[in-house]
Amino acid sequence: MKGVILAGGLATRLRPLTQVTNKHLLPIYNKPMIYYPLEAMQRAGIKEVLIITGPDHAGAFLNLLKSGDQFGLRLSYEIQQEAGGISQGIALSESFADEQKILVILGDNIFTYNLKNSVEKFEKKAKGAMVFAIKMPTESKQYGVVDLGENNKVLSIEEKPENPKSNLAQTGIYMYDNRVFEFIRKLKPSKRGELEVTDLNNFYVKEGAMECKIIDWWVDAGTSYDELLRANNFVAEKIKAGELQSL
Ligand code: DAU
Repeated sequence: MKGVILAGGLATRLRPLTQVTNKHLLPIYNKPMIYYPLEAMQRAGIKEVLIITGPDHAGAFLNLLKSGDQFGLRLSYEIQQEAGGISQGIALSESFADEQKILVILGDNIFTYNLKNSVEKFEKKAKGAMVFAIKMPTESKQYGVVDLGENNKVLSIEEKPENPKSNLAQTGIYMYDNRVFEFIRKLKPSKRGELEVTDLNNFYVKEGAMECKIIDWWVDAGTSYDELLRANNFVAEKIKAGELQSL
């Protein structure tokens, strides 16, 4: 399985912090944000990772991460010319994926869950997709919302619904079989003009081929200043308590 990290987008919700730099280069305690999904890839046993970013700051990613040696990864880079949505970004990984399955992580997702077991199980499956979700204490409606049936089978995923069917938020961690690129070609832009990851995931939901794993701690550090601060504080506490080791 190959790894794909999305680090494009405009990050308007974090302006002016993101006026002249890319969101994924902002600090989360002692490291740039992009280090966290990279370390998650490494822990999951992935060896080759494609980083997809916009045209404005691609050079900064190369300067920072280089070949990926420091993470024990082999890194490649791809430019997403415009922020046309997460699925549009994923589409750029088709030749890199080279018919293999992919693990996609959104570059602003901070979590400690080890994906290794899930990756190994998913590798053995003939086809399908998997999404990782988390129970939100209060509101889930600023995220994709997952409705789960029996045996963790996904019944529906709705993007930022007015009336969420559950408190389960879809995180930015996904695994896909290699039909993912065919499905993306069928997508139409949403109301916000993007090829949505939720619409992509719903191809698998309709087939009954979408599994969901619930994880225990996760922050989308890109949603607001407060979530960015929450991610910083959590990581600082974990590192000082010796519960989170850098690679
Ligand atoms: O983080 C989880 C949420 O991510 C999910 O619950 C939602 O279902 C999903 O749509 C997404 O929601 P956001 O509205 O938070 O997505 P955002 O536009 O912030 O983009 C998420 C990441 O993807 C961010 O790290 C930037 C990257 N991205 C985004 C776009 C739109 C790209 O690389 N290219 C893009 O065109």
